[in-house]
Amino acid sequence: MAILVTGGAGYIGSHTVVELLQAGHEVVVVDSLCNGSEEALRRVEKITSRQVVFIHGDIRDRAMLDTLFATHAIEAVIHFAGLKAVGESVGQPLRYYENNVYGTLVLCQAMAAAGVYRLVFSSSATVYGEEASVPYVESMPRGTTSSPYGTSKAMVEKVLEDQCQADPRWSVVLLRYFNPIGAHPSGLIGEDPQGIPNNLMPYISQVAIGRLPELSIYGNDYPTADGTCERDYLHVVDLALGHLKAMQALSTPGVSRYNLGTGKGVSVLEMVRAFIRATGVEVPYRFAPRRTGDLAAFWADADMAERELGWRAERGLGEMMADTWRWQSANPAGYHS
Ligand code: NAD
Ligand code: WQD
Repeated sequence: MAILVTGGAGYIGSHTVVELLQAGHEVVVVDSLCNGSEEALRRVEKITSRQVVFIHGDIRDRAMLDTLFATHAIEAVIHFAGLKAVGESVGQPLRYYENNVYGTLVLCQAMAAAGVYRLVFSSSATVYGEEASVPYVESMPRGTTSSPYGTSKAMVEKVLEDQCQADPRWSVVLLRYFNPIGAHPSGLIGEDPQGIPNNLMPYISQVAIGRLPELSIYGNDYPTADGTCERDYLHVVDLALGHLKAMQALSTPGVSRYNLGTGKGVSVLEMVRAFIRATGVEVPYRFAPRRTGDLAAFWADADMAERELGWRAERGLGEMMADTWRWQSANPAGYHS
């Protein structure tokens, strides 16, 4: 039996495939490569000395999925495939809802037709919405999100809840990620954004390598200790390991929800300082106006994942920075280096 990983050629997916293979699972990856790289999977094979079955396809393609399920004995699905650029989603809502919501519907229909009812879904802290108080706890209701991206995650959560309610054969784990950063310690796989990065960590590392001139810190007048925004950054390898723990919870019918974060907020300025401390490389920055849609500060209450899954984030900020830099400096232009 194998685990099907949708979006397994992407950032979090590729790191999770490494951990699955190293734990002895067979893995089948389906990825459209709209934001992933086959080279990532070749490197996963190099790290693990194991083979990944790769199917180049789109989860909206029902016929492709039916063939996949007919060809491979799949015991569970880890569903990463989706578009994730928050700003882009504001300008392209139809594309985001079609890919993220409709894509998940097609996937679930193909799963049900094949008799596969176990799913781990990549959700996001963004589903708590703009008004939620910190730290975010799983018992809080979903709130109003400011982007179609965030709404697509909330919609998929609701679809999966309704399906579990309707059919007790289904078992679904919703994993609400906070801010994943870092790279595999081998330096072989990491985050490889196309174009100018939207997110803080790849922006810092591309300034450090000289691909970008300086970091703009969006806002220094927030009601936080140093005026810059605070987020809960976690190492992508810890996040990947969270998926292995979540799979163990798939024996219970129904839906469960877990925050995957460290439980601690870190400011943008602290991130810059931690990077310089860990790498010895300077990161020129300037303060710029606030970015539309940013919240001042949020972090996870990470107790439930520890209590029920036996998972907690083990890797500290220094390790996140050192691993990011190892990946970035060995691959200055990402997988195209
Ligand atoms: P990523 O873009 O690196 O990986 C997503 C992968 O899915 C890519 O390889 C892409 O080619 C593939 N894909 C997209 N649409 C597809 C489709 N219709 N069919 C097949 N493949 C498709 O992103 P990531 O950072 O690894 O994120 C993985 C998941 O986690 C996404 O669902 C994302 O929304 C979610 N998430 C990410 C973060 C984050 O900060 N990175 C935070 C919370 C949640
Ligand atoms: C972090 C902080 C920025 C870039 C996003 C999504 C979220 C989740 C993770 C998918 C903020 C500041 C950033 C820069 C900066 N993704 N910043 N200069 O916005 O917390 O979360 O990614 O689910 O849904 O919204 O992450 O890395 O973009 O920003 O000052 O060049 O860094 O203002 O305070 P964010 P981020």
